[in-house]
Amino acid sequence: MCTLYPTGYVVHIRGVPMMKVAVIVGSTREGRSGGTVAAWITRHIAQRDDMEADVVDLVATPLPTVLPELGSPPSDPEALPQLAAVSPRLAAADAFVVVTPEYNRSFPASLKNAIDWHNREWHAKPIGFVSYGGFSAGTRAVEQLRQVFGELHAVTIRDGVGFNGVWGAFGPDGEAADPAADAAAKKMLDQLAWWAEALRTARAARPYAA
Ligand SMILES: Cc1cc2nc3c(=O)[nH]c(=O)nc-3n(C[C@H](O)[C@H](O)[C@H](O)COP(=O)(O)O)c2cc1C
Repeated sequence: MCTLYPTGYVVHIRGVPMMKVAVIVGSTREGRSGGTVAAWITRHIAQRDDMEADVVDLVATPLPTVLPELGSPPSDPEALPQLAAVSPRLAAADAFVVVTPEYNRSFPASLKNAIDWHNREWHAKPIGFVSYGGFSAGTRAVEQLRQVFGELHAVTIRDGVGFNGVWGAFGPDGEAADPAADAAAKKMLDQLAWWAEALRTARAARPYAA
């Protein structure tokens, strides 16, 4: 149960502010399955009373692919509004759910680009994964992402959700064909919520020393 206070600040039943979870849709491929997977996990988040989702879709808000000189702003003026549509939302997030397919035993370049454009936005925050693939359930993409996010001072959540053969993993209503996926989503989000609250409290008490 949530209460909407007059300030518009949403507080859940324990009096703790709702955690903001940025759901990052990593695939930008034409005809992608990523939209279905992201919508499914976003519905799971919406059913909870401790978190709210902000879907960061790299198709709707694409980022430039040319990084600037280190320590300098982008020289391309078109890069600034593109970054402005994404970066503040990552900075405001208490936690992330990364929705990633597996491409050639790894994760897509579009996702790596979004990760590399940012740094402090990831620090001391938890990251859960929903992965999918043809035959691997995206597990090899996730293992590589754990290394990348470790470099960015983020905490990756042990339990995740993986869809094998993603083409047949969802019904026409967008729900997962295997109910075990829903149970896995709940477990991952429970762990994400624990870390999000713990790390938000810790960041507020003492700035993270990167
Ligand atoms: C370039 C490319 C490489 C792929 N490599 C793998 C792979 O290594 N392992 C796997 O299980 N599936 C692989 N697949 C299948 C994808 O994971 C699957 O098509 C998935 O739906 C792609 O995500 P998307 O539809 O959101 O783009 C690959 C697909 C593409 C397009």
